[in-house]
Amino acid sequence: MERIPTGIEGLDELLEGGFPRRRMILVSGACGTGKTIFSAQFIYKGAVEYDEPGIFVTLDERPHLIREDMLQFGWDFRKEEEKDMIRIIDASIAKVGLPSDEVYHMPESGFDLDRLLVEIIKAAKEMGAKRVAVDSLPALGFRYETESDIRKAILKMSYVLMKSGLTAVITSEIPEGSKKFSKFGVEEFVADGVIVLSYLGGGGPATRTLHIRKMRGTQHSPHIHPMEITRERGIIVYPIEEI
Ligand SMILES: Nc1ncnc2c1ncn2[C@@H]1O[C@H](COP(=O)(O)OP(=O)(O)OP(=O)(O)O)[C@@H](O)[C@H]1O
Ligand SMILES: [Mg+2]
Repeated sequence: MERIPTGIEGLDELLEGGFPRRRMILVSGACGTGKTIFSAQFIYKGAVEYDEPGIFVTLDERPHLIREDMLQFGWDFRKEEEKDMIRIIDASIAKVGLPSDEVYHMPESGFDLDRLLVEIIKAAKEMGAKRVAVDSLPALGFRYETESDIRKAILKMSYVLMKSGLTAVITSEIPEGSKKFSKFGVEEFVADGVIVLSYLGGGGPATRTLHIRKMRGTQHSPHIHPMEITRERGIIVYPIEEI
Protein backbone atom coordinates (compact mmCIF):
# COMPACT_ATOMS: atom_id res chain seq x y z
CA MET A 1 0.00 0.00 0.00
CA GLU A 2 1.31 3.42 -0.95
CA ARG A 3 1.71 5.88 1.93
CA ILE A 4 1.47 9.63 1.98
CA PRO A 5 3.44 11.50 4.64
CA THR A 6 1.02 13.39 6.86
CA GLY A 7 3.20 16.43 7.47
CA ILE A 8 2.28 16.15 11.15
CA GLU A 9 5.45 15.72 13.17
CA GLY A 10 5.52 12.36 14.95
CA LEU A 11 2.40 10.98 13.25
CA ASP A 12 3.88 9.01 10.33
CA GLU A 13 5.75 6.82 12.80
CA LEU A 14 2.43 5.75 14.29
CA LEU A 15 0.95 4.92 10.88
CA GLU A 16 3.52 2.73 9.16
CA GLY A 17 4.76 5.77 7.25
CA GLY A 18 1.65 7.87 6.67
CA PHE A 19 -1.95 7.83 5.51
CA PRO A 20 -2.87 5.25 2.88
CA ARG A 21 -2.83 7.18 -0.40
CA ARG A 22 -6.10 8.10 -2.17
CA ARG A 23 -8.14 7.52 0.95
CA MET A 24 -10.34 9.75 3.06
CA ILE A 25 -9.33 10.45 6.65
CA LEU A 26 -11.71 11.97 9.15
CA VAL A 27 -10.22 14.25 11.80
CA SER A 28 -12.71 14.92 14.55
CA GLY A 29 -12.72 16.70 17.86
CA ALA A 30 -14.47 19.33 19.95
CA CYS A 31 -13.90 23.03 19.33
CA GLY A 32 -10.33 24.27 19.63
CA THR A 33 -8.77 20.81 19.50
CA GLY A 34 -6.67 21.68 16.43
CA LYS A 35 -8.72 20.33 13.49
CA THR A 36 -8.15 23.37 11.30
CA ILE A 37 -4.44 23.50 12.10
CA PHE A 38 -4.14 19.75 11.43
CA SER A 39 -5.76 20.02 8.00
CA ALA A 40 -3.82 23.16 7.08
CA GLN A 41 -0.55 21.53 8.15
CA PHE A 42 -1.34 18.48 6.00
CA ILE A 43 -1.79 20.76 2.97
CA TYR A 44 1.06 23.19 3.70
CA LYS A 45 3.72 20.58 4.49
CA GLY A 46 2.54 18.53 1.53
CA ALA A 47 3.30 21.44 -0.77
CA VAL A 48 6.51 22.66 0.83
CA GLU A 49 8.17 19.46 2.03
CA TYR A 50 6.82 16.82 -0.32
CA ASP A 51 6.22 18.84 -3.47
CA GLU A 52 2.56 17.78 -3.58
CA PRO A 53 0.06 20.45 -4.62
CA GLY A 54 -2.96 20.67 -2.34
CA ILE A 55 -6.42 22.20 -2.05
CA PHE A 56 -7.80 23.67 1.15
CA VAL A 57 -11.58 24.01 1.20
CA THR A 58 -12.71 26.25 4.00
CA LEU A 59 -16.34 26.21 5.08
CA ASP A 60 -15.96 27.67 8.56
CA GLU A 61 -13.32 30.35 8.46
CA ARG A 62 -12.64 33.12 5.98
CA PRO A 63 -9.52 32.47 3.86
CA HIS A 64 -7.72 35.66 4.91
CA LEU A 65 -8.03 34.62 8.55
CA ILE A 66 -6.64 31.17 7.77
CA ARG A 67 -3.67 32.78 6.00
CA GLU A 68 -3.13 35.09 8.95
CA ASP A 69 -3.41 32.34 11.56
CA MET A 70 -1.12 29.96 9.68
CA LEU A 71 1.49 32.66 9.22
CA GLN A 72 1.82 32.48 13.02
CA PHE A 73 3.45 29.10 12.48
CA GLY A 74 5.63 30.52 9.73
CA TRP A 75 3.47 28.88 7.04
CA ASP A 76 3.16 31.32 4.19
CA PHE A 77 0.07 30.13 2.33
CA ARG A 78 0.04 33.20 0.08
CA LYS A 79 3.49 32.34 -1.25
CA GLU A 80 2.44 28.77 -2.10
CA GLU A 81 -0.78 30.04 -3.67
CA GLU A 82 1.27 32.29 -5.95
CA LYS A 83 3.15 29.20 -7.16
CA ASP A 84 -0.18 27.34 -7.52
CA MET A 85 1.05 24.74 -5.07
CA ILE A 86 -1.90 25.51 -2.81
CA ARG A 87 -5.38 26.70 -3.68
CA ILE A 88 -7.86 27.82 -1.07
CA ILE A 89 -11.47 27.36 -2.11
CA ASP A 90 -13.66 29.76 -0.19
CA ALA A 91 -16.97 28.16 0.69
CA SER A 92 -17.38 30.12 3.90
CA ILE A 93 -19.58 33.13 3.25
CA ALA A 94 -21.25 31.76 0.13
CA LYS A 95 -23.24 29.67 2.59
CA VAL A 96 -24.94 32.77 3.91
CA GLY A 97 -25.42 34.28 0.47
CA LEU A 98 -22.53 36.75 0.50
CA PRO A 99 -20.04 37.17 -2.34
CA SER A 100 -16.40 36.19 -1.89
CA ASP A 101 -13.45 38.27 -3.05
CA GLU A 102 -11.33 35.12 -3.36
CA VAL A 103 -10.11 33.79 -6.73
CA TYR A 104 -11.53 30.35 -5.98
CA HIS A 105 -14.91 30.39 -4.32
CA MET A 106 -18.35 28.89 -4.30
CA PRO A 107 -21.24 30.93 -5.74
CA GLU A 108 -23.24 33.05 -3.32
CA SER A 109 -26.37 31.85 -5.09
CA GLY A 110 -25.83 28.62 -3.23
CA PHE A 111 -24.08 25.30 -3.66
CA ASP A 112 -24.30 21.72 -2.57
CA LEU A 113 -21.91 18.83 -2.22
CA ASP A 114 -22.00 18.04 -5.95
CA ARG A 115 -21.12 21.58 -6.92
CA LEU A 116 -18.27 21.62 -4.40
CA LEU A 117 -16.92 18.31 -5.69
CA VAL A 118 -16.94 19.65 -9.26
CA GLU A 119 -14.92 22.65 -8.09
CA ILE A 120 -12.42 20.43 -6.27
CA ILE A 121 -11.96 18.11 -9.25
CA LYS A 122 -11.47 21.05 -11.59
CA ALA A 123 -8.82 22.59 -9.33
CA ALA A 124 -7.15 19.22 -8.83
CA LYS A 125 -6.82 18.69 -12.58
CA GLU A 126 -5.50 22.17 -13.24
CA MET A 127 -2.83 22.11 -10.57
CA GLY A 128 -2.12 18.37 -10.36
CA ALA A 129 -3.22 18.25 -6.73
CA LYS A 130 -2.50 15.20 -4.60
CA ARG A 131 -4.09 16.41 -1.36
CA VAL A 132 -7.30 18.02 -0.31
CA ALA A 133 -8.60 19.18 3.04
CA VAL A 134 -12.24 20.00 3.72
CA ASP A 135 -12.76 22.00 6.91
CA SER A 136 -15.39 21.19 8.03
CA LEU A 137 -17.92 18.63 6.89
CA PRO A 138 -20.83 19.63 9.17
CA ALA A 139 -20.49 23.19 7.83
CA LEU A 140 -21.62 21.86 4.45
CA GLY A 141 -25.03 21.89 6.08
CA PHE A 142 -26.37 18.63 4.76
CA ARG A 143 -30.03 18.98 4.14
CA TYR A 144 -30.51 15.27 3.87
CA GLU A 145 -33.31 13.61 5.71
CA THR A 146 -31.95 10.33 6.87
CA GLU A 147 -28.74 8.88 8.17
CA SER A 148 -28.49 6.73 5.08
CA ASP A 149 -28.66 9.85 2.86
CA ILE A 150 -25.77 11.44 4.75
CA ARG A 151 -23.88 8.22 4.54
CA LYS A 152 -24.43 8.05 0.79
CA ALA A 153 -23.31 11.65 0.35
CA ILE A 154 -20.07 11.07 2.24
CA LEU A 155 -19.46 7.82 0.40
CA LYS A 156 -19.87 9.64 -2.89
CA MET A 157 -17.45 12.29 -1.74
CA SER A 158 -14.78 9.76 -0.81
CA TYR A 159 -15.29 7.94 -4.13
CA VAL A 160 -15.03 11.07 -6.26
CA LEU A 161 -11.95 12.36 -4.42
CA MET A 162 -10.24 8.97 -4.68
CA LYS A 163 -10.99 8.83 -8.42
CA SER A 164 -9.26 12.19 -8.76
CA GLY A 165 -6.16 10.74 -7.11
CA LEU A 166 -6.59 12.82 -3.98
CA THR A 167 -5.88 11.90 -0.41
CA ALA A 168 -8.40 13.74 1.73
CA VAL A 169 -8.49 15.06 5.28
CA ILE A 170 -12.03 15.94 6.30
CA THR A 171 -12.82 17.51 9.66
CA SER A 172 -15.92 16.98 11.77
CA GLU A 173 -17.03 18.34 15.11
CA ILE A 174 -17.98 16.31 18.10
CA PRO A 175 -19.71 17.86 21.09
CA GLU A 176 -17.60 18.07 24.25
CA GLY A 177 -17.69 14.83 26.20
CA SER A 178 -19.62 12.97 23.51
CA LYS A 179 -18.98 9.30 22.93
CA LYS A 180 -19.55 9.73 19.21
CA PHE A 181 -16.67 10.19 16.76
CA SER A 182 -18.35 12.68 14.48
CA LYS A 183 -21.20 15.10 14.09
CA PHE A 184 -23.62 12.86 12.24
CA GLY A 185 -22.40 9.61 13.69
CA VAL A 186 -21.97 8.04 10.25
CA GLU A 187 -18.80 9.71 8.89
CA GLU A 188 -16.53 7.39 10.84
CA PHE A 189 -17.96 4.32 9.14
CA VAL A 190 -17.47 5.66 5.64
CA ALA A 191 -14.02 7.20 6.22
CA ASP A 192 -10.94 5.03 5.74
CA GLY A 193 -9.35 6.49 8.82
CA VAL A 194 -10.47 8.30 11.94
CA ILE A 195 -8.26 10.51 14.09
CA VAL A 196 -9.72 11.96 17.26
CA LEU A 197 -8.23 15.11 18.76
CA SER A 198 -8.96 16.05 22.37
CA TYR A 199 -8.28 18.90 24.70
CA LEU A 200 -8.42 18.10 28.39
CA GLY A 201 -7.85 21.65 29.56
CA GLY A 202 -6.02 22.67 32.69
CA GLY A 203 -2.72 23.60 31.01
CA GLY A 204 0.45 21.53 31.18
CA PRO A 205 2.05 19.48 28.44
CA ALA A 206 -0.28 16.48 28.34
CA THR A 207 -3.53 18.35 27.91
CA ARG A 208 -3.87 17.72 24.19
CA THR A 209 -4.14 14.21 22.81
CA LEU A 210 -4.36 12.46 19.46
CA HIS A 211 -5.90 9.04 19.04
CA ILE A 212 -5.85 7.03 15.82
CA ARG A 213 -9.23 5.38 16.19
CA LYS A 214 -9.04 3.53 12.90
CA MET A 215 -6.87 3.39 9.78
CA ARG A 216 -7.81 0.80 7.21
CA GLY A 217 -4.95 -1.34 5.95
CA THR A 218 -2.62 -0.05 8.63
CA GLN A 219 -1.16 -1.45 11.80
CA HIS A 220 -1.46 1.82 13.67
CA SER A 221 -0.68 2.83 17.21
CA PRO A 222 -3.52 1.85 19.55
CA HIS A 223 -2.52 4.44 22.15
CA ILE A 224 -3.79 7.86 23.05
CA HIS A 225 -0.82 10.10 22.33
CA PRO A 226 0.09 13.45 23.83
CA MET A 227 0.06 16.23 21.28
CA GLU A 228 1.18 19.82 21.30
CA ILE A 229 0.44 22.85 19.18
CA THR A 230 3.66 24.82 19.04
CA ARG A 231 4.31 28.20 17.51
CA GLU A 232 7.55 26.97 15.94
CA ARG A 233 6.51 23.67 14.39
CA GLY A 234 2.73 23.44 14.47
CA ILE A 235 1.28 20.15 15.69
CA ILE A 236 3.69 17.65 17.21
CA VAL A 237 2.61 14.17 18.29
CA TYR A 238 4.67 12.35 20.91
CA PRO A 239 5.29 8.66 21.51
CA ILE A 240 3.60 7.57 24.73
CA GLU A 241 6.92 6.78 26.44
CA GLU A 242 7.48 10.50 26.76
CA ILE A 243 4.49 11.27 29.01
N1 LIG B 1 0.22 30.05 17.04
C1 LIG B 1 -0.24 29.18 17.94
N2 LIG B 1 0.58 28.62 18.85
C2 LIG B 1 0.13 27.73 19.75
N3 LIG B 1 -1.14 27.33 19.84
C3 LIG B 1 -2.01 27.83 18.97
C4 LIG B 1 -1.61 28.77 17.98
N4 LIG B 1 -2.69 29.09 17.25
C5 LIG B 1 -3.71 28.39 17.75
N5 LIG B 1 -3.32 27.63 18.78
C6 LIG B 1 -4.18 26.72 19.56
O1 LIG B 1 -5.02 26.03 18.64
C7 LIG B 1 -6.38 26.24 18.94
C8 LIG B 1 -7.20 26.41 17.68
O2 LIG B 1 -6.96 25.32 16.82
P1 LIG B 1 -7.94 25.05 15.60
O3 LIG B 1 -8.48 26.34 15.08
O4 LIG B 1 -7.21 24.18 14.66
O5 LIG B 1 -9.07 24.24 16.33
P2 LIG B 1 -10.39 23.63 15.70
O6 LIG B 1 -10.49 22.26 16.22
O7 LIG B 1 -10.37 23.82 14.23
O8 LIG B 1 -11.50 24.53 16.35
P3 LIG B 1 -12.98 24.88 15.83
O9 LIG B 1 -13.83 23.69 16.17
O10 LIG B 1 -13.34 26.08 16.60
O11 LIG B 1 -12.89 25.13 14.36
C9 LIG B 1 -6.43 27.51 19.74
O12 LIG B 1 -7.54 27.50 20.61
C10 LIG B 1 -5.11 27.48 20.48
O13 LIG B 1 -5.23 26.73 21.67
MG1 LIG C 1 -11.63 24.81 12.90
